[in-house]
Amino acid sequence: MKVITGIRKMQEFSRQVRGAGLSVGFVPTMGYLHDGHVALIRRAREQSDVVVVSIFVNPTQFDRKDDFERYPRDEQGDRALLEHEGVEVLFMPKADEVYAPGAATCVRVEGLTSGLCGARRPGHFEGVATIVAALLNMVGPDRVWFGEKDFQQLQVIRRMVADLHIPVEIIGVETVRERDGVAMSSRNARLTPEQREVAPVLRQALGAMADAYLGGETDASKLASRGRAMLASQAGVRIDYLEIVDGITLQPASCADDRSVIAVAAWLGDVRLIDNIVLARVRDAHASGGPTAAARSNRCDGGANPHA
Ligand code: PAF
Repeated sequence: MKVITGIRKMQEFSRQVRGAGLSVGFVPTMGYLHDGHVALIRRAREQSDVVVVSIFVNPTQFDRKDDFERYPRDEQGDRALLEHEGVEVLFMPKADEVYAPGAATCVRVEGLTSGLCGARRPGHFEGVATIVAALLNMVGPDRVWFGEKDFQQLQVIRRMVADLHIPVEIIGVETVRERDGVAMSSRNARLTPEQREVAPVLRQALGAMADAYLGGETDASKLASRGRAMLASQAGVRIDYLEIVDGITLQPASCADDRSVIAVAAWLGDVRLIDNIVLARVRDAHASGGPTAAARSNRCDGGANPHA
């Protein structure tokens, strides 16, 4: 595996690969790699001639300095995993080259960033959009893979790439979970054993809400109350948000439908976990394949929603 740290070197490498008629697949990460990243890398492997993985713990997307400093890091372990996955290039740019003295440009995606994590983590999505735009310019990939666990991030990046006409395909990959349902995240490493034991409640709450939805409940406030009650039943879990939103605009929905996504963020001690469930996917997975008559008649807007 080639390790590149210089930005010009990365750009030159990509130019040569693409000049030879080969495709570049890219998986941007902040390291401390887990099976969620492996799923992205394997998808990239299937669809690209050359796979580039970046590791850069981006300081500008952390709203708290202590969170940046305590973000888990394991360069040796990451390198071994990437070698094992047959990744061609590990790109590790240096912070002082990425953010050179005098750097003054920031990418802000309006609207999509006003709620959910964007409302609770000031500056977070400016940091994400700016670094992803910069990384795309550095790596010059044909396709890029992102996990759906960070659902809002994925939508923000899709919007940014479309608005800035960046010639790259963005591919979202379904969340990879531990056996007990906990969404894989580098932050899980910071949970104490006691916190790790209660962490599955996020997925359980989302699952219970999805079940209620399939059972015909579409009133978003009733669904949210059900989820909140489950989360509140676990000592040590503090809800940051639990919302039913439109999966494209991310605006709160008063009535859930198959375009909706239920998104949750909760604190377990000083670790903040996020997760979500895409109702269209729940619907697809459901054996009946469509809403029952009872479900339709129970719609909270009486069936008036054009998205339903
Ligand atoms: O999802 C992440 O790991 C980061 O937000 C990303 C996309 C690598 C940007 O720093």
